[in-house]
Amino acid sequence: MKKVTVFAPATIANLGCGFDVMGMALDEVGDILEMSAEEGDGISIVNSCEVPLPNDIEKNVITPVIRSFLAKLGRNAHINVDVKKKIFPGSGIGSSAASSAAAAYGMNELFERPFSVEELVEFAMEGERLACGSAHADNAAPAVMGGAILVRGYNPLDIIQLPVPDNFYCSVVHPHIVVTTKESRSVLPNQIPLSTAITQWGNLGGLVAGFYKSDVKLIGRAMKEVVAEPHRKQFIPGFDALKEKLLAEGALCMNISGSGPSVFALSEDKKAAEKIGEIMKLHLKEQGIDSNIYVMKVSDKGAKTI
Ligand code: HSE
Repeated sequence: MKKVTVFAPATIANLGCGFDVMGMALDEVGDILEMSAEEGDGISIVNSCEVPLPNDIEKNVITPVIRSFLAKLGRNAHINVDVKKKIFPGSGIGSSAASSAAAAYGMNELFERPFSVEELVEFAMEGERLACGSAHADNAAPAVMGGAILVRGYNPLDIIQLPVPDNFYCSVVHPHIVVTTKESRSVLPNQIPLSTAITQWGNLGGLVAGFYKSDVKLIGRAMKEVVAEPHRKQFIPGFDALKEKLLAEGALCMNISGSGPSVFALSEDKKAAEKIGEIMKLHLKEQGIDSNIYVMKVSDKGAKTI
Protein backbone atom coordinates (compact mmCIF):
# COMPACT_ATOMS: atom_id res chain seq x y z
CA MET A 1 0.00 0.00 0.00
CA LYS A 2 1.54 3.31 -1.08
CA LYS A 3 1.38 6.16 1.41
CA VAL A 4 2.11 9.88 0.96
CA THR A 5 2.02 12.93 3.21
CA VAL A 6 1.17 16.11 1.38
CA PHE A 7 1.02 19.81 2.22
CA ALA A 8 -0.93 22.54 0.41
CA PRO A 9 -0.64 26.20 1.41
CA ALA A 10 -3.07 28.85 2.55
CA THR A 11 -3.95 31.26 -0.22
CA ILE A 12 -5.36 34.73 -0.68
CA ALA A 13 -8.01 34.90 -3.37
CA ASN A 14 -9.05 37.89 -5.49
CA LEU A 15 -6.02 40.06 -4.56
CA GLY A 16 -8.38 43.01 -4.51
CA CYS A 17 -9.38 43.77 -8.08
CA GLY A 18 -8.98 40.19 -9.39
CA PHE A 19 -12.37 38.95 -8.19
CA ASP A 20 -12.51 35.19 -8.98
CA VAL A 21 -9.45 35.42 -11.28
CA MET A 22 -6.40 36.16 -9.09
CA GLY A 23 -4.88 34.48 -6.05
CA MET A 24 -1.54 33.85 -4.38
CA ALA A 25 0.02 31.29 -2.08
CA LEU A 26 1.42 31.97 1.38
CA ASP A 27 4.33 30.33 3.16
CA GLU A 28 4.16 27.87 6.07
CA VAL A 29 0.44 27.86 6.94
CA GLY A 30 -1.60 25.16 5.22
CA ASP A 31 -3.19 21.71 5.36
CA ILE A 32 -1.41 18.39 5.77
CA LEU A 33 -2.98 15.13 4.63
CA GLU A 34 -1.64 11.60 4.94
CA MET A 35 -3.08 9.52 2.10
CA SER A 36 -2.93 5.89 1.04
CA ALA A 37 -4.58 3.77 -1.63
CA GLU A 38 -5.57 0.12 -1.40
CA GLU A 39 -7.65 -2.30 -3.45
CA GLY A 40 -11.37 -1.87 -3.24
CA ASP A 41 -13.70 1.05 -3.47
CA GLY A 42 -14.63 3.95 -1.22
CA ILE A 43 -13.11 6.74 0.85
CA SER A 44 -12.26 6.82 4.58
CA ILE A 45 -11.42 10.13 6.22
CA VAL A 46 -9.94 10.30 9.72
CA ASN A 47 -9.52 13.61 11.51
CA SER A 48 -6.30 13.88 13.57
CA CYS A 49 -6.24 17.67 13.77
CA GLU A 50 -7.83 20.11 16.19
CA VAL A 51 -10.27 21.60 13.72
CA PRO A 52 -13.69 19.90 13.67
CA LEU A 53 -14.62 18.34 10.31
CA PRO A 54 -17.97 16.97 9.11
CA ASN A 55 -18.46 13.28 10.00
CA ASP A 56 -20.30 12.71 6.74
CA ILE A 57 -17.68 12.26 3.99
CA GLU A 58 -20.20 13.63 1.46
CA LYS A 59 -19.76 17.01 3.16
CA ASN A 60 -15.96 16.93 3.10
CA VAL A 61 -14.34 18.77 0.15
CA ILE A 62 -11.75 15.98 -0.13
CA THR A 63 -14.40 13.50 -1.32
CA PRO A 64 -15.34 15.07 -4.70
CA VAL A 65 -11.65 15.69 -5.44
CA ILE A 66 -10.80 11.99 -4.99
CA ARG A 67 -13.88 10.86 -6.92
CA SER A 68 -13.24 13.14 -9.89
CA PHE A 69 -9.58 12.05 -9.99
CA LEU A 70 -10.44 8.32 -10.02
CA ALA A 71 -13.26 8.83 -12.55
CA LYS A 72 -10.91 10.59 -15.00
CA LEU A 73 -8.23 7.95 -14.43
CA GLY A 74 -10.78 5.16 -14.90
CA ARG A 75 -9.58 3.28 -11.82
CA ASN A 76 -11.16 1.96 -8.63
CA ALA A 77 -9.41 2.14 -5.27
CA HIS A 78 -10.11 2.59 -1.61
CA ILE A 79 -8.52 5.84 -0.48
CA ASN A 80 -7.65 6.51 3.17
CA VAL A 81 -7.11 10.11 4.24
CA ASP A 82 -5.85 11.24 7.62
CA VAL A 83 -6.23 14.99 8.10
CA LYS A 84 -3.18 15.96 10.17
CA LYS A 85 -3.42 19.74 9.99
CA LYS A 86 -6.14 22.07 8.79
CA ILE A 87 -6.69 25.79 8.35
CA PHE A 88 -9.79 26.87 10.24
CA PRO A 89 -12.83 26.82 7.89
CA GLY A 90 -14.35 30.23 7.20
CA SER A 91 -11.03 31.98 7.84
CA GLY A 92 -10.80 33.48 4.35
CA ILE A 93 -7.35 32.09 3.59
CA GLY A 94 -8.46 29.23 1.40
CA SER A 95 -9.30 26.53 3.91
CA SER A 96 -11.33 24.40 1.50
CA ALA A 97 -8.84 24.95 -1.33
CA ALA A 98 -5.88 23.83 0.81
CA SER A 99 -7.57 20.47 1.57
CA SER A 100 -8.76 20.11 -2.02
CA ALA A 101 -5.34 20.93 -3.48
CA ALA A 102 -3.56 18.60 -1.05
CA ALA A 103 -6.01 15.79 -1.94
CA ALA A 104 -5.54 16.32 -5.69
CA TYR A 105 -1.75 16.48 -5.35
CA GLY A 106 -1.67 13.44 -3.03
CA MET A 107 -3.78 11.36 -5.43
CA ASN A 108 -1.40 12.19 -8.28
CA GLU A 109 1.54 11.01 -6.18
CA LEU A 110 -0.26 7.79 -5.16
CA PHE A 111 -1.03 6.93 -8.81
CA GLU A 112 2.40 7.72 -10.32
CA ARG A 113 1.58 11.25 -11.54
CA PRO A 114 -0.82 10.67 -14.44
CA PHE A 115 -2.07 14.28 -14.53
CA SER A 116 -0.61 17.75 -15.17
CA VAL A 117 -0.76 20.53 -12.55
CA GLU A 118 -3.54 22.23 -14.55
CA GLU A 119 -5.59 19.02 -14.33
CA LEU A 120 -4.91 18.86 -10.57
CA VAL A 121 -6.36 22.37 -10.29
CA GLU A 122 -9.53 21.14 -12.02
CA PHE A 123 -9.87 18.29 -9.50
CA ALA A 124 -9.27 20.70 -6.61
CA MET A 125 -11.99 22.98 -8.00
CA GLU A 126 -14.50 20.17 -7.35
CA GLY A 127 -13.83 20.70 -3.63
CA GLU A 128 -14.58 24.40 -4.07
CA ARG A 129 -17.82 23.53 -5.85
CA LEU A 130 -18.90 21.51 -2.80
CA ALA A 131 -17.77 24.21 -0.36
CA CYS A 132 -19.61 27.15 -1.88
CA GLY A 133 -21.50 26.05 -4.98
CA SER A 134 -19.05 27.66 -7.38
CA ALA A 135 -16.00 25.90 -8.82
CA HIS A 136 -13.72 28.94 -8.74
CA ALA A 137 -9.95 28.50 -9.11
CA ASP A 138 -8.53 31.61 -7.45
CA ASN A 139 -7.66 29.70 -4.26
CA ALA A 140 -7.36 26.23 -5.77
CA ALA A 141 -4.82 27.20 -8.48
CA PRO A 142 -2.27 28.91 -6.17
CA ALA A 143 -2.78 26.16 -3.55
CA VAL A 144 -1.73 23.56 -6.16
CA MET A 145 0.84 25.60 -8.11
CA GLY A 146 2.16 28.23 -5.70
CA GLY A 147 2.99 31.85 -6.51
CA ALA A 148 0.58 34.44 -7.84
CA ILE A 149 -1.95 33.13 -10.32
CA LEU A 150 -4.12 34.71 -12.97
CA VAL A 151 -7.08 32.63 -14.12
CA ARG A 152 -7.30 34.10 -17.63
CA GLY A 153 -10.40 32.09 -18.45
CA TYR A 154 -12.55 29.31 -17.10
CA ASN A 155 -13.88 27.75 -20.28
CA PRO A 156 -11.47 26.17 -21.01
CA LEU A 157 -9.43 26.72 -17.84
CA ASP A 158 -6.44 28.94 -18.72
CA ILE A 159 -4.10 29.55 -15.78
CA ILE A 160 -1.04 31.80 -15.82
CA GLN A 161 1.55 31.74 -13.03
CA LEU A 162 3.04 35.19 -12.42
CA PRO A 163 6.49 35.88 -10.95
CA VAL A 164 6.40 36.89 -7.26
CA PRO A 165 8.71 39.70 -6.04
CA ASP A 166 11.21 38.72 -3.33
CA ASN A 167 10.49 41.59 -0.96
CA PHE A 168 6.87 40.84 -0.40
CA TYR A 169 5.21 40.10 2.94
CA CYS A 170 1.61 39.58 3.81
CA SER A 171 -0.13 40.29 7.13
CA VAL A 172 -3.43 38.48 7.46
CA VAL A 173 -5.89 38.97 10.29
CA HIS A 174 -8.55 36.34 10.86
CA PRO A 175 -11.30 37.88 13.01
CA HIS A 176 -13.23 35.31 15.04
CA ILE A 177 -16.48 35.86 13.23
CA VAL A 178 -17.94 33.52 10.65
CA VAL A 179 -18.89 34.70 7.18
CA THR A 180 -19.43 31.88 4.71
CA THR A 181 -18.42 32.29 1.07
CA LYS A 182 -22.05 31.59 0.12
CA GLU A 183 -23.26 34.47 2.31
CA SER A 184 -20.51 36.76 1.09
CA ARG A 185 -21.34 36.02 -2.56
CA SER A 186 -25.06 36.48 -1.99
CA VAL A 187 -24.66 40.27 -1.42
CA LEU A 188 -22.92 40.89 -4.75
CA PRO A 189 -24.70 42.63 -7.63
CA ASN A 190 -25.26 40.73 -10.89
CA GLN A 191 -24.48 43.81 -12.95
CA ILE A 192 -22.06 46.71 -12.49
CA PRO A 193 -21.90 50.16 -14.12
CA LEU A 194 -19.43 50.62 -16.97
CA SER A 195 -17.46 53.20 -14.96
CA THR A 196 -16.95 50.62 -12.17
CA ALA A 197 -15.79 48.03 -14.69
CA ILE A 198 -13.30 50.50 -16.20
CA THR A 199 -11.75 51.20 -12.79
CA GLN A 200 -11.57 47.48 -12.03
CA TRP A 201 -9.93 46.37 -15.28
CA GLY A 202 -7.44 49.25 -15.16
CA ASN A 203 -6.40 48.06 -11.71
CA LEU A 204 -6.28 44.40 -12.74
CA GLY A 205 -3.99 45.26 -15.68
CA GLY A 206 -1.81 47.28 -13.27
CA LEU A 207 -1.69 44.38 -10.83
CA VAL A 208 -0.50 41.88 -13.44
CA ALA A 209 2.05 44.42 -14.74
CA GLY A 210 3.23 44.98 -11.15
CA PHE A 211 3.97 41.28 -10.67
CA TYR A 212 5.89 41.07 -13.96
CA LYS A 213 7.86 44.25 -13.23
CA SER A 214 8.47 43.16 -9.63
CA ASP A 215 7.13 46.60 -8.70
CA VAL A 216 5.56 46.23 -5.25
CA LYS A 217 4.41 49.87 -5.21
CA LEU A 218 2.48 49.37 -8.45
CA ILE A 219 1.01 46.14 -7.02
CA GLY A 220 -0.12 48.09 -3.94
CA ARG A 221 -1.59 50.91 -6.03
CA ALA A 222 -3.44 48.48 -8.26
CA MET A 223 -4.81 46.21 -5.52
CA LYS A 224 -7.99 48.24 -5.18
CA GLU A 225 -11.43 46.75 -5.38
CA VAL A 226 -14.62 48.50 -6.46
CA VAL A 227 -16.89 45.56 -7.34
CA ALA A 228 -17.16 43.29 -4.28
CA GLU A 229 -15.60 45.29 -1.42
CA PRO A 230 -18.33 47.97 -1.19
CA HIS A 231 -20.88 45.19 -0.59
CA ARG A 232 -18.76 42.87 1.51
CA LYS A 233 -17.12 45.29 3.92
CA GLN A 234 -20.32 45.38 6.02
CA PHE A 235 -19.28 41.93 7.35
CA ILE A 236 -16.00 43.29 8.78
CA PRO A 237 -16.50 45.70 11.71
CA GLY A 238 -14.54 48.95 11.30
CA PHE A 239 -13.27 48.02 7.83
CA ASP A 240 -12.79 51.59 6.51
CA ALA A 241 -11.11 52.81 9.70
CA LEU A 242 -8.73 49.84 9.67
CA LYS A 243 -7.76 50.50 6.06
CA GLU A 244 -7.08 54.14 6.82
CA LYS A 245 -4.86 53.19 9.78
CA LEU A 246 -2.86 50.59 7.86
CA LEU A 247 -2.25 52.78 4.81
CA ALA A 248 -1.12 55.60 7.13
CA GLU A 249 1.34 53.12 8.71
CA GLY A 250 2.87 52.38 5.31
CA ALA A 251 1.01 49.24 4.18
CA LEU A 252 1.05 48.96 0.37
CA CYS A 253 -2.65 48.06 0.35
CA MET A 254 -5.38 46.44 2.42
CA ASN A 255 -8.14 44.22 1.08
CA ILE A 256 -10.57 41.51 2.03
CA SER A 257 -8.92 38.11 1.68
CA GLY A 258 -11.11 36.07 -0.67
CA SER A 259 -14.68 36.29 0.52
CA GLY A 260 -13.57 37.32 4.04
CA PRO A 261 -13.85 37.78 6.92
CA SER A 262 -10.03 37.81 6.92
CA VAL A 263 -8.32 40.95 5.75
CA PHE A 264 -4.80 41.16 4.35
CA ALA A 265 -2.23 43.88 3.85
CA LEU A 266 1.04 43.80 1.92
CA SER A 267 4.38 45.24 3.03
CA GLU A 268 7.88 45.41 1.63
CA ASP A 269 9.63 43.90 4.63
CA LYS A 270 8.93 41.50 7.47
CA LYS A 271 9.27 44.04 10.27
CA ALA A 272 6.71 46.36 8.66
CA ALA A 273 4.38 43.38 8.08
CA GLU A 274 4.65 42.39 11.77
CA LYS A 275 3.79 45.92 12.87
CA ILE A 276 0.80 45.98 10.51
CA GLY A 277 -0.30 42.64 11.99
CA GLU A 278 -0.23 44.09 15.51
CA ILE A 279 -2.30 47.11 14.44
CA MET A 280 -4.85 44.77 12.83
CA LYS A 281 -5.18 42.73 16.01
CA LEU A 282 -5.48 45.80 18.22
CA HIS A 283 -8.09 47.35 15.95
CA LEU A 284 -10.30 44.24 16.14
CA LYS A 285 -9.81 44.02 19.89
CA GLU A 286 -11.15 47.57 20.13
CA GLN A 287 -14.26 46.30 18.31
CA GLY A 288 -14.54 43.45 20.86
CA ILE A 289 -13.41 40.80 18.37
CA ASP A 290 -10.62 38.27 18.97
CA SER A 291 -8.42 37.41 16.05
CA ASN A 292 -5.46 35.42 14.78
CA ILE A 293 -2.64 37.10 12.95
CA TYR A 294 -0.45 35.48 10.34
CA VAL A 295 2.60 37.26 8.96
CA MET A 296 4.03 35.35 6.03
CA LYS A 297 6.18 35.75 2.99
CA VAL A 298 4.31 35.40 -0.27
CA SER A 299 5.40 31.99 -1.54
CA ASP A 300 6.20 30.62 -4.97
CA LYS A 301 5.65 27.08 -3.69
CA GLY A 302 2.40 25.18 -3.94
CA ALA A 303 1.36 21.67 -2.93
CA LYS A 304 4.23 19.28 -2.14
CA THR A 305 5.02 15.99 -0.46
CA ILE A 306 6.62 16.25 2.96
N1 HSE B 1 -13.26 34.51 -5.33
C1 HSE B 1 -14.01 33.95 -4.25
C2 HSE B 1 -14.93 35.01 -3.68
C3 HSE B 1 -13.06 33.46 -3.21
O1 HSE B 1 -14.49 36.14 -3.51
O2 HSE B 1 -16.10 34.70 -3.43
C4 HSE B 1 -13.71 32.69 -2.10
O3 HSE B 1 -12.72 32.33 -1.17
